Amino acid sequence: MSEKFLQVKDLVIEYTSGGQVIHAVNGVSFDLEKGKTLGLVGETGAGKTSIAKAIIGVLPDPPAKVRSGEIFVEGKDLLKASDEEMYEVRGNKISMIFQDPMTALNPLMTIGDQISEVIAIHSGDGNTQEAKKKAIEILNMVGITAERYDEFPYQFSGGMKQRVVIAIALACNPELLLADEPTTALDVTIQAQVLEMMNDLREKLGTSMILITHDLGVVAEMCDDVAVVYAGEIIEKADKVELFDYPTHPYTNGLFGSLPMMAVGEKRLHPIAGMMPDPTNLPEGCKFSPRCPFATEECRKGEIPLREIAPGHYCRCLHAARKETPGFSASAVSEMVTAGKEA
Ligand SMILES: Nc1ncnc2c1ncn2[C@@H]1O[C@H](COP(=O)(O)OP(=O)(O)OP(=O)(O)O)[C@@H](O)[C@H]1O
Ligand SMILES: [Mg+2]
Repeated sequence: MSEKFLQVKDLVIEYTSGGQVIHAVNGVSFDLEKGKTLGLVGETGAGKTSIAKAIIGVLPDPPAKVRSGEIFVEGKDLLKASDEEMYEVRGNKISMIFQDPMTALNPLMTIGDQISEVIAIHSGDGNTQEAKKKAIEILNMVGITAERYDEFPYQFSGGMKQRVVIAIALACNPELLLADEPTTALDVTIQAQVLEMMNDLREKLGTSMILITHDLGVVAEMCDDVAVVYAGEIIEKADKVELFDYPTHPYTNGLFGSLPMMAVGEKRLHPIAGMMPDPTNLPEGCKFSPRCPFATEECRKGEIPLREIAPGHYCRCLHAARKETPGFSASAVSEMVTAGKEA
């Protein structure tokens, strides 16, 4: 059944800093069905974290301001919710694994207490015995034995710490998990283990997920749908198989071109030269046009629409056409990226 759990519509987020306005998110829209995983991909500064923080209501205001848009969760607009309502949402519906997970734990508190505290706060009944029991259950779910309940974060390796962070995020059984680069800080083997664990848990609990990453290998393994973000806009989105088979936007093709494994294949495309535009001074028209080898005069003016180029496949480019033959398959990318990293 295709039930939309989350709908983000025309989200616009700005930061004000040093008298300048940073146009971080510029009209982002997407849907997420219950139980599905959406990958948000894009290079640094694209606006990925800002989108996630807006959804869970933790954008720092100031300097951040949501200028416009709607974020519906089960039909309710979170941008219109009160602080109390958002507190409820964060406790019961949505949780987030933040980008810098290694600093997310309290160094002075045992990992068991950190998990049961979350459970106790959100159950609200003050039953610490019950919370402890549940914390041990969750620790087991992320592959940590009950004996380690009374240990402190410094006694854990990076991968184990990240399992604890995931356990805390899952402690109140959220319906939506926002995972911001959850494994970037880990080495490749541990990363694979943690991702596999997240996938198993997500399936078991039926959690919907937004997975933020710059790693297409992670997308290939974990996601159902993919949205590519560039300069605060979604420039391409489709289900994963379609996107990997038919990457259409020149920027998306550039992302595939800069994968390490492509260096050995004949499909090598050159990584795109140049940088993302200055978010205080975005170019007219297509924001990728200054870097795009195919840009023409008309790309540099007006609003470039997100066109549906195949059923469910959207691309924000005036010129790009979906190829006749498939390009990169998701499973091949997943295998080759893993192999490339291990080499
Ligand atoms: N607290 C802040 N104050 C001012 N500007 C900010 C703040 N947080 C983010 N920005 C700016 O907003 C834009 C989007 O940042 P964001 O962190 O959402 O990007 P991102 O895609 O998550 O990047 P990364 O891959 O590096 O995590 C960037 O230009 C960034 O510099
Ligand atoms: Mg980020």
